[in-house]
Amino acid sequence: MDQFGLKLVFLLVVFISVSAQNELLVQTKLGKIKGSILRTVNDNEIKSFRGIRYAQAPVGDKRFKAPIKVSPWGEKVFDASKDGFQCPQPFIAKELISEDCLHLSVYTKNLHGNLPVIVYIHGGANYLGSSNSESNVGPDYLLDHDIVLVSLNYRLGALGFLSTKTAEAPGNYGFLDQVMALQWVEDHISSFGGNPRLVTIAGHSSGGTAVTLHMVSPLSKGLFHRAITMSGSYTNHYHLNSLMWTRKIASELACPLYNPKDVINCLRNVTWERLIQVRGTLELYGFSDQEWNYEVDGHVLLDTPTNLFAKGDFHKVPIMAGITKDELNYFFSKQENNTGLLNDISLNFDKYAPQLFIFDPNDRVHEKSRRIQQFYLGNKKIQNQDFINFSKIFSDAIINNGVHRLVELARKYVDVFYYRFDYLGRYSLFSNEEGKPRGVGHADDLQYILGTKWFEKKIELHDPEMFMVERITKWWTSFAQNGIPCKNSGINWLASNKTNIYTIYNNKDVSLGGKPFSDRNRFWDELIPIKESAIQKQPY
Ligand SMILES: *[C@@H]1O[C@H](CO)[C@@H](O)[C@H](O)[C@H]1NC(C)=O
Ligand SMILES: *[C@@H]1O[C@H](CO)[C@@H](O)[C@H](O)[C@H]1NC(C)=O
Ligand SMILES: *[C@@H]1O[C@H](CO)[C@@H](O)[C@H](O)[C@H]1NC(C)=O
Ligand SMILES: *[C@@H]1O[C@H](CO)[C@@H](O)[C@H](O)[C@H]1NC(C)=O
Repeated sequence: MDQFGLKLVFLLVVFISVSAQNELLVQTKLGKIKGSILRTVNDNEIKSFRGIRYAQAPVGDKRFKAPIKVSPWGEKVFDASKDGFQCPQPFIAKELISEDCLHLSVYTKNLHGNLPVIVYIHGGANYLGSSNSESNVGPDYLLDHDIVLVSLNYRLGALGFLSTKTAEAPGNYGFLDQVMALQWVEDHISSFGGNPRLVTIAGHSSGGTAVTLHMVSPLSKGLFHRAITMSGSYTNHYHLNSLMWTRKIASELACPLYNPKDVINCLRNVTWERLIQVRGTLELYGFSDQEWNYEVDGHVLLDTPTNLFAKGDFHKVPIMAGITKDELNYFFSKQENNTGLLNDISLNFDKYAPQLFIFDPNDRVHEKSRRIQQFYLGNKKIQNQDFINFSKIFSDAIINNGVHRLVELARKYVDVFYYRFDYLGRYSLFSNEEGKPRGVGHADDLQYILGTKWFEKKIELHDPEMFMVERITKWWTSFAQNGIPCKNSGINWLASNKTNIYTIYNNKDVSLGGKPFSDRNRFWDELIPIKESAIQKQPY
C-alpha cells in the first residue's frame, strides 16, 4: 500500500472512531449525555449511559423529603460512561457509596428506534442493592433483544423510608424517587430510542413490591403500561410499624424520640455512615427484617395496596407475576446448628413469630402462632433437621402469599400471567457444603435475566443454562411489546382471569398447571384474611 493509501486508511479509521464517539453523545432536553459501549453475551454492542442524574442530591435539608428534579445543565456534557455511586447501605465498600445517588442507567441498541422500554427496580429488602451494571443489573442478556433497558437507584433504608407519620417526615422517599425516575423515562427515553408509550416496570423482591405499589399509586398513573413482579407483592399481610423502627434508630443515635421536629432535626444531623452502622441493631439473628416499607400518606398511597387491589382501584395493565419453587426455604440455614436459639423459638414461638413473619403482635397472637407451629412443624420442637420446614414459613409469609393474593385480586380485572420458576441450574445463592444448590431459592431466577455478580459464575453462551436465559428474555421482550409473554413461541401460557387460574411451571420443560402451593396459601388466607390485613392501624 502506498503512502496515500495508508493515509486514507488512517483517516478512515479516525473517521469511524470519531463517528462512533459522536454516536454516544446524546442530546436530551436537559443537556448532552456521553455514554460508552458494553457488549451482550452474544457480543452485540450496547450503547450504555450509566449514572445519569435524575434528581438533585437528597442531602442536608433535603434528607427525608421528596426528591427535587434535576435542572438542565447547559452546554456541559454529562459523563455517563461509567456506573455512578450506590445509595448508602451496609456490606459494600464505602468508596462505592454516596448519599448523592439518585441516578439511572439506560441501555439501548439503537438510539433512533422506538422500542419498548423495560424499567428495572432492584430488590434488597428496601435497604440493599443498586442499579450497578457490574454487580447487580447487567444488560448482558436483555439487550440481545429489541428493548431499551433502564435501571434506577432509589434511596434505601432509613434514608428512603423513615417516617414520623407527620409532615416532618412522611416516609415513601424511595418510592417518590422511583416515580421521578419514571417521569424521567417519559420525558427523555425517546432520545435513546425508547418508546415512552410502551413502558414495562419490572422488579424483584422489594423491587417487585414497589411495582405493585406503583400499580396503585395515583402518582404513577400513566407512567407505565405493563408490570412484572418477581417474588414480591405489597398485597401481602405485612403489619407495618414504621414508628417503632424510627424510634429504635433514633434511640441508637441518642436522638429525641417523640416530637417529630426534634427527632428529624437530630436525624438530619448524623452522617449516613452512622445511620448504616446502627441499622444492624434492627436485625434479628441475621434475618433481614422488613422494617422499611410504605406509608399510607394520602399522597403516594390513599389506602393500603391490598385494599386498593381488592376494590379494583389500580392501573389496569397486564401483569406477569410469580415466585421461585423454594424462595426462602433455606433462609434459616444460617442458624442451622444454633440449638439454643431453636429451642428458645420452639418454647416461645408466639414471642418470635410476629416479628419474623410480620403480623400484628396485638391481635390473636397466641392463636395465630399456635396454628403456624402446628401447620409447619406439627407442634414438634424445632430440631436441626426441621430447618426447611421452619424456613417455609418465611417463604410463605414474606413472599408467596403476597404474590398469590395479587393474582387472586388482580385477575378479576386484568390478564395475570402467573409463573413458578422451578429450574435448578448449577448455581444458586443457597448451596450446601459441596457448593451444590439446595434448591431454587429466592433470586436464583435473576441469573437468567440480568448479568449479576452474585452467583459463582455468569452464564455464558455455551453453558447448559443458556436456554433458560434465551427463554425468559424472550418472554420479557414479548410481554413488553405485546402484553403477552409467549407470543408465537409455541407455549400456551394462558392468562389467569375472572374464571380460571393458570400457572406456568418453568422448568427444563414448561408446563401449564393450577395454583402453586394452594394448601399453604389457603392456610395464610384463613389465618390473616384480606380484610384484616388491609387495615393499617395508626397511630402506634
Ligand atoms: C451537626 O450539627 C453541628 C452543629 O450544628 C454541626 O457542626 C455538624 O457539622 C452537623 N453534622 C452533620 C453531619 O450535619
Ligand atoms: C451444622 O452442623 C453440620 C454437622 O456438623 C455441618 O455439616 C453443617 O455445615 C453445619 N451448618 C452450619 C450452618 O454451620
Ligand atoms: C417436616 O419435614 C419432614 C421432612 O424433613 C416431613 O416429613 C414432615 O412431614 C414435615 N412437616 C411437619 C409438620 O413436620
Ligand atoms: C379465561 O381464560 C380461559 C382460557 O383462555 C377462557 O376459556 C375463559 O373464557 C376466560 N374467562 C373469561 C371470563 O374471560
